[in-house]
Amino acid sequence: MPLILGIESTCDETGAAIVADGWQVRSNVISSQVELHAKYRGVVPEIASRAHLQNILPVLREALRDADAKLEQVDAVAVAHRPGLIGSLLIGVTAAKSLAWALRKPLIGVDHVHAHLYSVVLETNKQPPMPAVGLVCSGGHTALYAMRSIEEVSLIGSTRDDAVGEAYDKVAALLGLGYPGGPIIDQLARRGDPKALRFPRTFLQRQSLDFSFSGLKTAVLYHVRGVPGKTPVAPTEPPTGQALADLAASFQAACVDVLIEKLRRAAVRTQAQSILVGGGVSANAGLREALPRLNLPVFVPPLRYCTDNAAMTAGLAFRYWQSGQFSPLDLDAIPYSRFTEPPASR
Ligand code: KG4
Ligand code: ZN
Repeated sequence: MPLILGIESTCDETGAAIVADGWQVRSNVISSQVELHAKYRGVVPEIASRAHLQNILPVLREALRDADAKLEQVDAVAVAHRPGLIGSLLIGVTAAKSLAWALRKPLIGVDHVHAHLYSVVLETNKQPPMPAVGLVCSGGHTALYAMRSIEEVSLIGSTRDDAVGEAYDKVAALLGLGYPGGPIIDQLARRGDPKALRFPRTFLQRQSLDFSFSGLKTAVLYHVRGVPGKTPVAPTEPPTGQALADLAASFQAACVDVLIEKLRRAAVRTQAQSILVGGGVSANAGLREALPRLNLPVFVPPLRYCTDNAAMTAGLAFRYWQSGQFSPLDLDAIPYSRFTEPPASR
C-alpha cells in the first residue's frame, strides 16, 4: 500500500501528512499561523514565509511520528507547489525537493485548488459519480470546475473580484470581529434572522458562472457606516447583540444563495451527476444546509479537510503516482493555479 508524504505551505498553514492508498489518512499535522496574522486582520506574506521556515521541520517530524512511519518507508514526496504566496510556497517546495532528492524517491507537485476538490475522497474513498461540478470556495479562491473525473478538471467560472472567504474576512474586520472571519460569522449567523436585512445577490449575466462578492461587501459597509453623500458617514459603532447576529445571518444568506445558484447553473450546463465542494468556506454550516437544494449527490470533506491541509495534497498525488507522473527536481513554486492563465497574459 503506497505511502505518500504530503507537504502544504501555500498560505498561512504549515502542513504535513502521510496518506496511504490515496485516502487512508495516517497523520495530518497542521500548524496554524492564525495568531501571528490576527492583529493585521489578514495574512502578511513575509510573516507567513518566516513562520513556515520555523514550522516545517517540526511539522514533518510530527507527521511521521503520528503515522508511526519512517522517512524511508515513504514511496513519494508530494507538495502543493501552486497557487499561493510565492514566499510561502518556496518553503514547502524546497523541503519536498530536498527530501525527495535525499531519499531518492519521486517528487510530485500538485495544484492546491485541485487538492481541495480531491479532499472529498479522504477517509471514505467514496468516488463521486461523474461528470461532476466542483466548487472551491476559500479565502483565496471561488471557482467552479467541470470534472470528467477526479483528475480531469477544467475551470468554468471564477470570481471577478473577491473570493467568498475573503468577503467573510473583510466583513468580519469591518464589524470589529476577529480573524479569520468566516467561522465567527458562521457562528453568529446561527442565532440571527437571514431575512432581517436584504443584501444584494450578484448573479451577473443570466448564463454566467462567474462570481462577484465586492458589491455585497460594500453593501455591508454602507449598512454599517452609512452611504457616502446620502446618509451621514457617521463614526458609528458596529452593531452588537441581535442586530449583529441578524447582519451575519443576512450576509451569509446572500453568499449562500449566490453559491447555490451558480452551482445549479453549472450542474445544468455540464449535466453533472454529483457536486463536490471544498475549501475553507465548505465548512460553512449555512452552505452545508443549503446544498441539498441542488437535488444531486453532494460530496463535502469532513471539517478538518475543508481548510488548508497536506492530507489532500498527498491524496491527490497518489493518482499521479499510480500513472507514474512525477515532477522534476527543479519543480517551481508558481503563484497561480494550473487552471488559470498567468495574469500577465490576460
Ligand atoms: O481553504 P482555506 O484554509 O485557505 C485558502 O486556500 O484560502 O480557507 C480559509 C478561508 C478564510 O477566508 C476563512 O474565513 C474561511 O475559509 N472559512 C469560513 C469558514 N471556515 C473557514 N468561511 C465561512 N464559514 C466557515 N465556517
Ligand atoms: Zn486552500
